[in-house]
Amino acid sequence: MKRCIIFAAMLSLAAATFAQKSAAPAGGKAISTDLFGIFFEDINYAGDGGLYAEMVQNRSFEYTASEHEGWGPMTAWKFVNYGHSVGDADVVTNRPLHANNTHYVTLRSEVVGLYRKDSPIAGIGLQNEGYDGMALTKGEIYHFSIWARGEMPLQVVLQDGKGLSICSDTIRTAAVEWQCYEAVLRPDTTLTDGRLSVLAIAPGQVDVDMISLFPHHTYKERKGGLRADMVEALQQLKPRFMRFPGGCLLHGPGLEHLYNWKNTVGPVWQRKGQPNCWGYHQSQGIGYYEFFQMCEDLGCKPVPVIHAGVTCQGDAKGWNIPGTGQRSLTREQMEAYVQDILDMIEWATGPADSRWGRLRAEAGHPAPFQLEYIAIGNEENVTDSLIRNLTMLYEAIHECYPQLTVIGTCGHTANGHHHNRGWQLARDLGLKVVDEHYFQAPDWLIKNQHRYDSYDRTGPQVYFGEYGSRGTRLFNALAEAIYMMGLERNGDIVCMASYAPLFGKRDHCQWNPDLIYFDNQQLYPSVSYYVQQLFSTNSGDYYYDDVINAADDPMLGRSCVFDSRTGDVILKFSNADSVAKTVTVDLSRFKRISSKVAVTTLTGHPEDTNNYNQAPLRPRTESSQLKCRQSLTIEPYTFQVIRYKAK
Ligand code: AHR
Repeated sequence: MKRCIIFAAMLSLAAATFAQKSAAPAGGKAISTDLFGIFFEDINYAGDGGLYAEMVQNRSFEYTASEHEGWGPMTAWKFVNYGHSVGDADVVTNRPLHANNTHYVTLRSEVVGLYRKDSPIAGIGLQNEGYDGMALTKGEIYHFSIWARGEMPLQVVLQDGKGLSICSDTIRTAAVEWQCYEAVLRPDTTLTDGRLSVLAIAPGQVDVDMISLFPHHTYKERKGGLRADMVEALQQLKPRFMRFPGGCLLHGPGLEHLYNWKNTVGPVWQRKGQPNCWGYHQSQGIGYYEFFQMCEDLGCKPVPVIHAGVTCQGDAKGWNIPGTGQRSLTREQMEAYVQDILDMIEWATGPADSRWGRLRAEAGHPAPFQLEYIAIGNEENVTDSLIRNLTMLYEAIHECYPQLTVIGTCGHTANGHHHNRGWQLARDLGLKVVDEHYFQAPDWLIKNQHRYDSYDRTGPQVYFGEYGSRGTRLFNALAEAIYMMGLERNGDIVCMASYAPLFGKRDHCQWNPDLIYFDNQQLYPSVSYYVQQLFSTNSGDYYYDDVINAADDPMLGRSCVFDSRTGDVILKFSNADSVAKTVTVDLSRFKRISSKVAVTTLTGHPEDTNNYNQAPLRPRTESSQLKCRQSLTIEPYTFQVIRYKAK
């Protein structure tokens, strides 16, 4: 069986290279230009209830008790009747909107009447509470849509937390078959506890599904799009790549819920939602198309990570229940899964007239997406099943798409049996990169900052795909900065790194700490966010280890990189100690830099954190003059970036 067609366009796809503006002076070591990226996973309501700007929770009545105890099709909904109205609502599954979207509600209205003539609303219907209420802004436009079957005037009402109407519109559904109807709402009040009600306002019956409300203002004003402030926060990180969609999310709870990219593309009402391992529902409103599009928007390389045909070793029905251990697809199931993955690559990179590329083109992207990396596996135990499955996937991908860099996996610890076995597998297969994950305390990071100095330069490179220092204090961020200087210093063998997790919704975090906390109104970037930002916006492509002179001191991280695109030289220091440190620098080999520098400083009390803080810690930038031979003092508990501009 022919599994793939190799497209000429793909073969000519080359890694993005930047025009080199300035030659690097002697003594530098070339380091990765893809070093600092991001990792997005729908954990902590990062996607549904977060980045995905949909304001209606459980819009398609597909929640189930297997996702969350006590949940069902009516979670986040309630039946309402206003005025002197009588009727009822039932969840039904016969003749659904789509085979992937099986539940909907039938509204039966018998009597509709007002108590008083001036009573603002009457009718029976459904009210949605959103995700912790809906944050509505006075004067903003909101796009409402609904799929309905049957003839009925429907009143669509935005309400405050007490049920008082703040704006409404009426639509008339008519079709005998499912049809989509839309309305535009513009509230005249700003509030955070908004509700949406859909009311049948005449006697009769109507079926309703996919009840949706999006702000007009999404990222790039895309209809049904992403929260603008959240994407903008990522944009400010200037990531070189984005890994998606998980994380443990890939494994789903159980074999039957392994992530399936095909369920995530096409019109949203045809996508197949499912439980995730974090105890909530995936609407798949953000699917593969949205991920690739987001990478384009962010100007970064997509790194899709696919599961390796096994569940998580901790798997049962949910993450917190003692596990049944890792389970694997059979060889036959693997054959089909391998083909799914080849289809995915064709979907992303094939011409618009190819079988799978056509789907992408129909969704609005006729040109192929850029694809350079694909990662297989997410920190699974490296068992015989994992080895068999990963090998099958790798061999098929490599045969069909030899230009892709395939990234392997090595368990979820910094060393040990699975770590070693994952590395051995990568060497045996000839993989170019291995994805390491470990979350460690700040002291561990400081103590192990030289970990990669002794890594084998002849084997695969490292993608440090998930890390964080188990806290949100300034001290944590300083320790992460010290460790990240170790990544820069070893940027010849560490080719990529991404902090995890990226987003955490207030009161809904399954995992702490997170890089960016948020609620329905705003973002609360952690101190670590600013460290990540300062690294990625001040990265270079050559590392110099003899420019900064300092005593051997684990509490002071330092690095010097040269950015040949701009010709700038960048020094970084992270002092995690309670005393100031003095260093000397000699930049005389960089002939083209000016003495005018930008000094960016992030400092405070080591216990300071940013979570929901009104006056968060953030970096400040000042201009200064520095000589090329100079002694510098790094204050206690300070991360500092000094950027020497090219003349
Ligand atoms: O980043 C949060 C979780 O940590 C990821 O889902 C998993 O890969 C890791 O254990």
